[in-house]
Amino acid sequence: MVATNDRTVTVFGGTGFLGRRIVRHLRSHGFRVRTASRHPDRVHRLFGPDGPQLQSVGANIHDERSVAEALAGTYGVVNAVSLYVEHGRETFHSVHVESAQRVAAQALRAGVDRLIHISGIGADTASQSRYIRKRGEGELAVRAAFGDALFVRPAVIFGPDDAFLTTILKLLRQLPIYPMFGRGRTRLQPAYVLAGPCSERRRLQRSSSSAARASTLTRSFLEPLRTKLDLRPD
Ligand SMILES: NC(=O)c1ccc[n+]([C@@H]2O[C@H](COP(=O)([O-])OP(=O)(O)OC[C@H]3O[C@@H](n4cnc5c(N)ncnc54)[C@H](OP(=O)(O)O)[C@@H]3O)[C@@H](O)[C@H]2O)c1
Repeated sequence: MVATNDRTVTVFGGTGFLGRRIVRHLRSHGFRVRTASRHPDRVHRLFGPDGPQLQSVGANIHDERSVAEALAGTYGVVNAVSLYVEHGRETFHSVHVESAQRVAAQALRAGVDRLIHISGIGADTASQSRYIRKRGEGELAVRAAFGDALFVRPAVIFGPDDAFLTTILKLLRQLPIYPMFGRGRTRLQPAYVLAGPCSERRRLQRSSSSAARASTLTRSFLEPLRTKLDLRPD
């Protein structure tokens, strides 16, 4: 039987690949979830109509007022908003630094107990990659605004509907040869998508967790896949 929990957690990015698993996982463990998205209609398509355990609110993390409204009266907040390609005012700086800071500052102001900020593996303010650098700056900005924030730094995540494994499988099926970035020597540490929400829920419940996994090389990752798909070697 699922334990009941009258605490509400706001999930920004709850319509996304990882965020929707976090929403489902929190609900299945009795939390009330407020899903904050620019597309509340999408929330209803994914999770059904609002009810005692689910509330959908329209929010844009660039907009302070909508962020504040989404956080009113909540116990916890998870920021699972992503941006992988910059366009217009949607830049790595505006989303991963400024808006991340906005969510953290408004969470403190609203008296939220727990803030979990989903960042990315290797987040580093000194990185040559603009994306990685902004993730590092974002973590510092969140930490400055909400001292007790918890940071999750996932590696690439796989699971149904992902953009990683699904794309690789499609390309392996279609292409006669497979282009391996980094000459096949790039180290990856893929994580299964359902491992993430379990960790987030445990963090909200103040217990620790660890998710150590063996690193893998792209080549050693691809070859078993090709065998499983019963594709001929190059
Ligand atoms: N997927 C991975 O392999 C992976 C690996 C490492 C780290 N991560 C990190 O995990 C987090 C989630 O990634 P994901 O892959 O699940 O992302 P995703 O599938 O691309 O989902 C992005 C989410 O962000 C929301 N969003 C974007 N801009 C917004 C805005 N201005 N205001 C409010 N919401 C906004 C979208 O909601 P609406 O469009 O409905 O508003 C959507 O729910 C990100 O921090 C990402 O960097 C993911």
